Amino acid sequence: MRRLVLCGSPRARGRAAALALRVVEAYEQAGDEVGLVLLAEAVIAPCTGCNACKHNAATPLRDDLYCVIADSMARVRRRLNDCDALTVVSPVYFSGAPAQLKAFYDRLQPYYWSKYAKSTKRPADLFVVGEGGDPHGFEPLVSETRSALAVAGFRLERVHDWVGLVHEDGRLDDDRPVLEGGRTAAASDYCNETPSGLHPTYLRGGREAHHG
Ligand SMILES: Cc1cc2nc3c(=O)[nH]c(=O)nc-3n(C[C@H](O)[C@H](O)[C@H](O)COP(=O)(O)O)c2cc1C
Repeated sequence: MRRLVLCGSPRARGRAAALALRVVEAYEQAGDEVGLVLLAEAVIAPCTGCNACKHNAATPLRDDLYCVIADSMARVRRRLNDCDALTVVSPVYFSGAPAQLKAFYDRLQPYYWSKYAKSTKRPADLFVVGEGGDPHGFEPLVSETRSALAVAGFRLERVHDWVGLVHEDGRLDDDRPVLEGGRTAAASDYCNETPSGLHPTYLRGGREAHHG
């Protein structure tokens, strides 16, 4: 299996990067081919909502993931498109994603207008690190991840909660193998899903499912 591990931290040598390296190692030991992207080493500007990707989608023979912003996103997108499974490892910032990861998620908007949004979903996992001092959890991070990855053709399946379990020097407070450690739960446990897999607010007013 070809896997991509994407680290959402703005720090290239923080807790999330340390955990991401261990996750890469574990997948490699299981025989998978693994790529690693550190957003700390990428330049990804925020989406400006210009809607060029939307208008482009209606133009025949154009790159269906076209974006007016030229930066590292094109390179990261190629790696996303080439993998069979995705793992995001990220710190929680005020319950949600750090700005660098949110910029990456928002720049997935061209996928919304492309074939990927309606394609068969590939599996995705989310590993979360944090210091644990904030009592408000990280449901927004899970929801943002789930929503953005769905348009890019992934289904967020599991959330691995490592908050408070990764030391500043990268040591883990859990002796189990990294893929089994932390507190692992189904993503649906966080996202207030209905049995159809959709959020209850989406079903109010009889709206039809647009993407998974
Ligand atoms: C702006 C900001 C907000 C944060 N919010 C939270 C939070 O809500 N919950 C938490 O457990 N830790 C929070 N933290 C702590 C980070 O998640 C923690 O330091 C983590 O190790 C950062 O990841 P890194 O080491 O990969 O940079 C916050 C840190 C920053 C800088």
